[in-house]
Amino acid sequence: MSKAPSSKINNMSELKATCKSPANIAFIKYWGKTDPKTRVPQNNSISMCLSGLFSICTVEFRRGYYLDKIMFLDEKVVKKKERERIIAVLDRVRKLKKTKLKARVVTKNNFPKAVGIASSASGLSSVTFAACQALGLNLTKVELSKLCRLASGTACRSVPDGFVEWKKGTNTNDSYSVQIFPPDYWDIVDVVVIVSSEMKKISSTEGHALANTSPFQKSRLLGMPAQIKAIKKAMKEKNFTAFGQIIEQESLNMHAICLTSQPSILYWNPSTIRIMKDVQAWRQAYPDSRLESYFTIDAGSSVHIICQKKDKRRLVTRLKRTVGVEKIVVNQPSVGARIIDEHLF
Ligand code: DP6
Repeated sequence: MSKAPSSKINNMSELKATCKSPANIAFIKYWGKTDPKTRVPQNNSISMCLSGLFSICTVEFRRGYYLDKIMFLDEKVVKKKERERIIAVLDRVRKLKKTKLKARVVTKNNFPKAVGIASSASGLSSVTFAACQALGLNLTKVELSKLCRLASGTACRSVPDGFVEWKKGTNTNDSYSVQIFPPDYWDIVDVVVIVSSEMKKISSTEGHALANTSPFQKSRLLGMPAQIKAIKKAMKEKNFTAFGQIIEQESLNMHAICLTSQPSILYWNPSTIRIMKDVQAWRQAYPDSRLESYFTIDAGSSVHIICQKKDKRRLVTRLKRTVGVEKIVVNQPSVGARIIDEHLF
């Protein structure tokens, strides 16, 4: 974070900013860290920013504030752990600016938390970016991505636009995300199927910490460079079938690590499995009813179904008839974190 200005804040102009940041879906997953403190991952990961799932956060620093005040719109209580995570973001940004000013933070998501749709990615990247902007820190996208990574690994992938690679690097100074293709590069769609709004019992942070207890994590990591190469080739060629096969297999690979960790983690519920089976069956159906889509699942029960834009309607129609589906959110590839003019307070 070398470029952060260290000047004192001595004018009374408004130190307030609002950021809108998307969730992202990983095609190659981040699972396991080399360093839990700085969230340097064990492997590179590849993702897409999502147009329909986002967080908005307003941060204001002020002389009159004696404590950091944090509020989630639509939620009465802010859990202790969430509060601590947000305060840690504020502390990092304050340190860069060399200020002790306290802040008011108001944030909201347009989707339920902790059901496997990367709420920490959108939530913590939006707090980080809004706080930096409010204090006038002029960070590059790379610097911002690194700062977001310290809050939540996946948050660093919500900074660049479109299709993104998080380069694991070797330490906290060279682990960040970059764009590999812009949002309009490929007309693919992520139809997110929420099957339960119940909070997951084991957080992804806890899950990462267990990855090395799986006897298969070593072989997962050994295969990673080839996986990354193969998916980038499929994306470059816009070969949807090759791409889809890789992402589905990769998601199952990550869940194989979860299932065989000690203790074991099972994020799916019966509706998750029913949808996984449906997606596979729809691909194998006779030509007139064949539907080519592939699933990928993060640390939760929600299923992300990736299809080409031309098949979106048929997919959504089928999902609406599927038992156990609570909510469907259709996403295009989107831009990353942005500063916006409308504040939440
Ligand atoms: C399963 O970013 O939530 O979604 O760095 O501890 O905050 P922390 O973990 P988090 O990791 C979730 C990982 C995943 C897969 C992925 O998106 O790559």
